[in-house]
Amino acid sequence: MGTTISEVSSHVGSEVTIGVWLANKRSSGKIQFLELRDGTGFIQGVVLKNEVDEADWEEAKELTQESSLYVTGLVREDKRAPSGYELTVSGLKLIQKAHDYPITPKEHGVEFLMDHRHLWLRSSRQHAILRIRNEVIKGTYDYFYDHGFIKVDAPLLTGSAAEGTTDLFHTKYFDRDAYLSQSGQLYMEAAAMAFGKVFSFGPAFRAEKSKTRRHLIEFWMIEPEMAFCDHEESLKIQEDYIACLVQRVLKKCQPELKVIGRDTSKLEKIKAPFPRITYDEAVRFLNKNGFDDIKWGDDFGAPHETAIAEHFDVPVFVTEYPAKAKAFYMKPDPDREEVVLCADLLAPEGYGEIIGGSQRIDDLELMKKRYEQYHLNDPSYKWYLELRQYGSVPHSGFGLGLERAIAWICGLEHIREAIPFPRLLNRIYP
Ligand code: 4AD
Ligand code: MG
Repeated sequence: MGTTISEVSSHVGSEVTIGVWLANKRSSGKIQFLELRDGTGFIQGVVLKNEVDEADWEEAKELTQESSLYVTGLVREDKRAPSGYELTVSGLKLIQKAHDYPITPKEHGVEFLMDHRHLWLRSSRQHAILRIRNEVIKGTYDYFYDHGFIKVDAPLLTGSAAEGTTDLFHTKYFDRDAYLSQSGQLYMEAAAMAFGKVFSFGPAFRAEKSKTRRHLIEFWMIEPEMAFCDHEESLKIQEDYIACLVQRVLKKCQPELKVIGRDTSKLEKIKAPFPRITYDEAVRFLNKNGFDDIKWGDDFGAPHETAIAEHFDVPVFVTEYPAKAKAFYMKPDPDREEVVLCADLLAPEGYGEIIGGSQRIDDLELMKKRYEQYHLNDPSYKWYLELRQYGSVPHSGFGLGLERAIAWICGLEHIREAIPFPRLLNRIYP
């Protein structure tokens, strides 16, 4: 392995060899301009007829889009170049000539591009989005490690449902039934009782028959869980974490944000604390603004979330949903049994719910009652009840959908571009 494009700044004035692909090419007479990429960045290679071997000149002429090669040249600083540097080519060594690369610089339909996702990842826009994703992942690890959390991995094959039974992926576990994990939360509760502050970061599977801009069948979720932590404290962590992530992307990913054309002034405003409205207020607001379909007790759909979030420049917490609209494990408000100590965090600009979180029921008797109500008395949930039996403590946690967060931070029209290989209702290829 030679130098990378990302490192050329420390090689100005010297000759380097870089393994690259040809992204694009133009020529005028005795000069050819090669747009080269190596995964770490783009650089322009300038081939001058009078300064290279005849063979290299001809080779450069023959280069097709996405051909792979080793290029050798002198690194020069060039203020006009997008990367700030240029390569005066002195030699080329073709590795493979690519024939008829399907994704050309012209416009393609989204289904075509999705069918070629394995190649589409090379395009500058997709490349930039996934580098931002990488920064969000790094930012997540840094945030939680810096705040005293430890990462605990939840199983992906489970014997029970964490978030209701309607969208479970069923599979066989030898001669038994099993499900792909919808959420690591229940296991994180066990882990919080062992380690105090924990987080998991892994895939979640939802067999939702939803074909929307916001739903993936397989997505990645960050699920922190904290012992001795009430709902209010959990909200503070959520807003601080989200604000830190956004500020980090602004700090570290300016070139990528530029490539995707993100209006960063909208992201600059993302600072904690975030506004809050109660579910009750949200219902009244919706009823007043043309949504007569929502009545107290219903969960919100995408149009409702968008209508609420439109009133804010920053993410907004909707708190205290009716118990019956939410999961069995949420703790009721002691002053008002019919609502639970929970919040959904709605992103601005119509990106919908990015976080769902709550304080969990810690009382053994109440949890037993929920087991009756939700028919959870089968052996696969036994261990979860035992957490309430042996040194139960108040605890809270939340789940951030990674791709929802990225779709919002990057301003994407559809969540499918926020993950390298999306699984959608009608797509498991490539
Ligand atoms: O609100 P959800 O279902 O909450 C849970 O799973 C809790 N157990 C989390 C916890 O408290 N530990 O999912 C959490 C987040 C949502 O806010 C959303 O961002 C994302 O996960 N999400 C999805 N993202 C993409 N596609 C889907 N089908 C998603 N379903 C949920
Ligand atoms: Mg939710």
